[in-house]
This record gives sequence, structure tokens and C-alpha cells, in this order.
Amino acid sequence: MARVAIVTGGTRGIGKAICLALQEDGVTVVANYGGNEEKAKAFTEETGIPAYKWDVGDHQATLAGCERVEQEVGPIDIVVNNAGITRDGTLQRMSFEDWDEVIRINLGGCFNMAKACFPAMRERKWGRIVNIGSINGQAGQYGQVNYAAAKSGIHGFTKALAQEGAKYGVTVNAIAPGYIDTDMVAAVPENVLQKIVSRIPIGRLGHAHEIARGVAFLCAEDGAFVTGSTLSINGGQHMY
Ligand code: CAA
Repeated sequence: MARVAIVTGGTRGIGKAICLALQEDGVTVVANYGGNEEKAKAFTEETGIPAYKWDVGDHQATLAGCERVEQEVGPIDIVVNNAGITRDGTLQRMSFEDWDEVIRINLGGCFNMAKACFPAMRERKWGRIVNIGSINGQAGQYGQVNYAAAKSGIHGFTKALAQEGAKYGVTVNAIAPGYIDTDMVAAVPENVLQKIVSRIPIGRLGHAHEIARGVAFLCAEDGAFVTGSTLSINGGQHMY
């Protein structure tokens, strides 16, 4: 039987590309989304992939949402924690709400999804969790103390949970994308973005499908020996 995957924030941008890559690999895919009904509807019509709405930053809603997916589609074998938001601004200007919302959704979402799905993966002795971190969680970024902290937290979360899952066949890995041509990056002011792109050795923004390939690799059956790792896909912008 095909594995079942859920991709949070899966109806557009990098999440949509991940859904398509997993579908291409023969996985039964379900997308979660937080708000944009119109994009979600268009996504399902285009791909045939069902989309379930809930806020991954909400603990109870996430438990209930995953339970519904399990009843309607089947046990969840693969979780891709992709949902994320930005609320950029220098610390001077950042409100507590901008801080809290980014931590709650970007980092809290990973915890909530793992609480919903990890115990059963552990029991079934097979699971894949891929968390989408960021170059800005590795290197920091001016105007993003909230986002950089959340993404950096995701990288730590990944390494800790990988240790807990290892002997149960549950791998936990992260991808650290650089700047990808999605709506999120399009929101960066043009002059700021130009400077950022000039520092990418490959000389362009990345494409969503280039992140999705990495996720599909980590989710594959023969990805079983890769755990606790972070795969950087950033055009050479940050190397270490
Ligand atoms: N390093 C040092 N100084 C910087 C700087 C940097 N990287 N960027 C801006 N500054 C300085 C400017 O030179 C300017 O200085 P002066 O006032 O002395 O001229 C000052 O900071 C203010 O800059 P802005 O005019 O840009 O200030 P603002 O308040 O209008 O905007 C900001 C600040 C919201 C942070 C804006 O610069 C911005 O949006 N930056 C981009 C942040 C970013 O990269 N976000 C990534 C989003 S995509 C993403 O997150 C996906 C992913 O995972 C990669």
C-alpha cells in the first residue's frame, strides 16, 4: 500500500511543489493549509490532492485535523512541516504579536504535528518527518529575529527528535532552503532582494521544485539511513 504523507502549507509555493514531488513518487498525499481558500480549491482541482484546513500553530486543531486525515485517508507515514509565515521588521519595530505569531506557527507547528503523528509512526516502526528550516535560521537575517529564531529552533528540534525516532525507524531531517521564488520572497522589498540575489553564487533565486526534490529524497524508502541531517539548498549563499 502507498505511504500517506501530509504536507503543511501544502497548497502553494514550496509546499505545493513538495506535494507534487511526493505524488510523483507514488505517495498518497494530503495537503494542509491555513487560510487561502481560493488557492486551496484551485490546488485540489489541479492536482486531485485533498486539502484540509487548520492552523498548525493551534495544538488542539492540529490533533483533530490529523485524526480526521487518518480516518479519511489512512495512517500518516510522512509529515512535511512546511507551513511558515514571516513578520519581518527590525527588533526596534517588531511587536510582541509579530514575535509570538511566527514562533507559534513556524516552530510550534512542528511540535504540534509531531505530537499528532510521531507516536503512531513509532508504533508502526516506520516514519519520515521533514522540517523546512531556512538559511536564515542558520545564518541569521537583518529584520528577522522572530523568523530566524523559529527556523533555528526547527534545526535543533530536528536533531533532538531524530535521536528519539532512530531506533523506531522514524527519521527526522531538515531542509534549509535559501531564497526561493515564492510569494514569501516576492514580499521582500525589490532593492533589498536585489542585494540578496547578488550574494547568491549561482546568481538567481531557487525554484520550489528544487527544494521538493530534496524532500522526496529524504522521504523515500532508501532514505532510511539519513536522520538528524540538514540539507542546505541555497545556491551556495551560505556554506559551512
Ligand atoms: N545589514 C545591515 N543593515 C541593513 C541591512 C542588512 N542586511 N538591511 C537593511 N539595513 C539598514 C539599511 O541600510 C538602513 O540603514 P540606514 O537607515 O542607515 O540607511 C536601515 O537598515 C533600514 O533599512 P530599510 O529601509 O530596509 O528599513 P525598513 O524598516 O523599511 O525595513 C526590513 C526593514 C523589514 C527588515 C527590510 O529591510 C526587509 O524586508 N528586509 C528583508 C528581510 C528578509 O530577507 N526577509 C526574508 C523573507 S523570505 C524568507 O524568510 C524565506 C527564507 O527562509 C529565506
